[in-house]
Amino acid sequence: MSALLPLARSYSFAPISKFYVGAIVRGATGDFYTGANIEIPGQCLGFAVHAEQSACSNAYMNNEQAITALAVGGAPCGHCRQFIEEMSPDGEILIMNPEGSSAKLSSILPSAFGPAALGMKHGALPVEKRNLKLAGHSDDALALAAIDAACMSYAPYSKSPAGVAIRATNGRIYRGSYIENVAFNPSLSPLQTALAALIANGEKFADISAVTLVELEKATISQRAVTETVLAAIAPSVKLQTKVAQN
Ligand code: THU
Ligand code: ZN
Repeated sequence: MSALLPLARSYSFAPISKFYVGAIVRGATGDFYTGANIEIPGQCLGFAVHAEQSACSNAYMNNEQAITALAVGGAPCGHCRQFIEEMSPDGEILIMNPEGSSAKLSSILPSAFGPAALGMKHGALPVEKRNLKLAGHSDDALALAAIDAACMSYAPYSKSPAGVAIRATNGRIYRGSYIENVAFNPSLSPLQTALAALIANGEKFADISAVTLVELEKATISQRAVTETVLAAIAPSVKLQTKVAQN
């Protein structure tokens, strides 16, 4: 896993900090997922996706039942430890550094504020699919990918599942689910999750040709404003399309 870190890091997009981070996650299937940090030019630092979040979200979008280990070049920051806690509330996930030493999450995040604090028995994994449908018939592949991502969304705290699909200029589609965190702020918006997939596949923001967001009409919270803001910063010529999901 450590040998793959330079590859993961090569995908990093960090125009603000110029601090390039890569991470590798191992899923329960044994597959590896790359992740890289992503910064949004000209926008609030809170929109950045950390490399560890990016790698975890790629494992999530590929339906991994669990994450068993995560390798990263340095010690994961507190925000990432909190995000990883949601992936593995039992604290068993191994956090590895390039020197080859590893520590369980529970030893580097003692007294964790975990999903149980808000009454949840489990974390974000395994992915639970809910049955949402698009309001009205649609055979638009991008809308269908976005509703699929919304069905995979983990939103136990706001109960506001959402999904995004990005079409690249080569026709490929990248899905992103909204993934919440019990501490709220480390949550990944569906666009952030989809960008992690886009970046891990070697695409650039300039390759984005269309984006669709799907969410419930009367959700407690909406992803629309943040998605429009981030999209305007990274692909100004692309207008966000939104569709309504129904239970
Ligand atoms: N960063 C990570 O990707 N992971 C960490 O755990 C530490 C920080 C990123 C976020 C931001 O893009 C840059 O490094 C500077 O903090
Ligand atoms: Zn971090």
